[in-house]
Amino acid sequence: MKDQTSLYGQIQEALHYIRTQTDFQPRYGIVLGTGLSGLAEEIDTVAEISYGDIPHFPTSTVKGHKGKLVFGHLGGKPVVAMAGRFHYYEGYTAKQITFPVRVMKFLGIELLILSNAAGSANQHIQAGDIVFIRDHINMQPDNPLRGPNDERLGPRFPDMLHTYDRQLNAKGLEIAQKHNIRAHEGVYLALQGPNLETPAEYNFFHIIGADLVGMSTVPEVLVARHMGLKVMALSAATNKCYPLEEIRETTHDDVIAVAQGVEPKMRKIVMELLEFLG
Ligand code: HPA
Repeated sequence: MKDQTSLYGQIQEALHYIRTQTDFQPRYGIVLGTGLSGLAEEIDTVAEISYGDIPHFPTSTVKGHKGKLVFGHLGGKPVVAMAGRFHYYEGYTAKQITFPVRVMKFLGIELLILSNAAGSANQHIQAGDIVFIRDHINMQPDNPLRGPNDERLGPRFPDMLHTYDRQLNAKGLEIAQKHNIRAHEGVYLALQGPNLETPAEYNFFHIIGADLVGMSTVPEVLVARHMGLKVMALSAATNKCYPLEEIRETTHDDVIAVAQGVEPKMRKIVMELLEFLG
């Protein structure tokens, strides 16, 4: 009876395993990005499940990424958080990267909150600033929605006009302002990585309308919108990529260090947002 071959069947299998471990009902899903996983420590944890134990879940390979689902309360609200996310550059397909988001939807979440570290392609966005994503440009070579569409998951041609929740961004900006945290709204451009970009590329991305460049988030957002989830995404700007004179050599450790400096601010904003949500 079990259909392990279709995406839908695999989601059901993952769900079934999770339900043998916990009956916790999350309303909000959280994906924690590079250097930003500290928020998971604030969760009043009810259950934790390693990715490796969940059928069909990929496992993370990148330094600074843990791999577990954390269930519990954050800001008094029931959440499930992905401590550790997957990236295209690790070799996964966009479908594999986004499988956990499918599962979180079936666990009952209504809103997905994502964080990431990104380079700033906007002269007004400094390293250490927070940016609420208001739109994206997808330049990754794979799409998680490619292939046969299962109408039980979502429509063949999902619309992308209202991808990011602008009301939540406005609330987030208000919270940031209250705490004197530098924050903006901006356009995130997704690349495959793993190399950072050349000066000519950063310049090009600035010209075509990017405020941020990064290697994650967009696949998960596409799948979340495919399934009708609300989405909010926050970037920690970790390095300046524009104007060209301000570009510096940047290592992954540099990105993690700056992101970790931003993490307490992001934590504050996300917790207050969750408190504010109904
Ligand atoms: N480019 C791509 N991804 C990134 C960067 C960058 O400059 N900084 C952090 N993630």
